[in-house]
Amino acid sequence: MRFFQTLVLLPLIAGNLAVIARPLEERASLAKCSSERKQMIDDALTKAAKMAQSGADLIRSGSDYSTDLFQSFFKTDDDQAKTRVAGVLEKIATEALAGDNGVVNYYCTPEGINCIDDHSFIMTAYGETDGTYGRIRTCPAYFTKFPQWSDVCTVLDQATSSLHEMAHTKGIFGPETYGYNAVHLLNSTAALENAESYAFFSKSAFLNCTVSK
Ligand SMILES: *[C@@H]1O[C@H](CO)[C@@H](O)[C@H](O)[C@H]1NC(C)=O
Ligand SMILES: *[C@@H]1O[C@H](CO)[C@@H](O)[C@H](O)[C@H]1NC(C)=O
Ligand SMILES: [Zn+2]
Repeated sequence: MRFFQTLVLLPLIAGNLAVIARPLEERASLAKCSSERKQMIDDALTKAAKMAQSGADLIRSGSDYSTDLFQSFFKTDDDQAKTRVAGVLEKIATEALAGDNGVVNYYCTPEGINCIDDHSFIMTAYGETDGTYGRIRTCPAYFTKFPQWSDVCTVLDQATSSLHEMAHTKGIFGPETYGYNAVHLLNSTAALENAESYAFFSKSAFLNCTVSK
């Protein structure tokens, strides 16, 4: 989701990971999920991995389309910036497929976060990290108010939302700007710290979307 909260809470994460007992057949990174919601998150993570990998692969292709798409989201063609974004996207792709071997603990429940849901803003989930481990908590609206997947470039779906949260767990947590159109208005510094920029860039790379200026 969608806000980044203070780091004060974060030392709890490692402790939580240590004490959670997991049935062997269950994907270790998912907690407090009904079977239906577990399936939804599994599907979202599978798609998020594909999108993140598409983003990383596109950046590394060095194609004209790659340069144009990167410029449209991140407002730079600096090689260090490209290397950093590709590296973060690779980590997200790896984590999203890691299952038992991942370091992110993914809850289907809000676990104490205040899920805002009014006509102007709907909170889907909340991602955090202590620099090593991550935790993602999910609001009910994620499951009920967003499509699992949409192949419309501008639409936030569950897969793109999960990619956004995964970006938080991999160190991207600057001030948040949401939405496909709004992220295109950020300067380079802000976009490179904005999880939503990573999410929609990846979706565009995956779908071969038209470059927006
Ligand atoms: C980029 O945008 C952020 C947020 O609006 C702003 O604080 C910052 O000063 C801007 N940086 C540059 C280099 O324009
Ligand atoms: C991406 O879309 C462009 C047209 O917008 C097309 O020319 C190109 O072949 C497409 N690339 C892929 C990999 O689908
Ligand atoms: Zn966020």
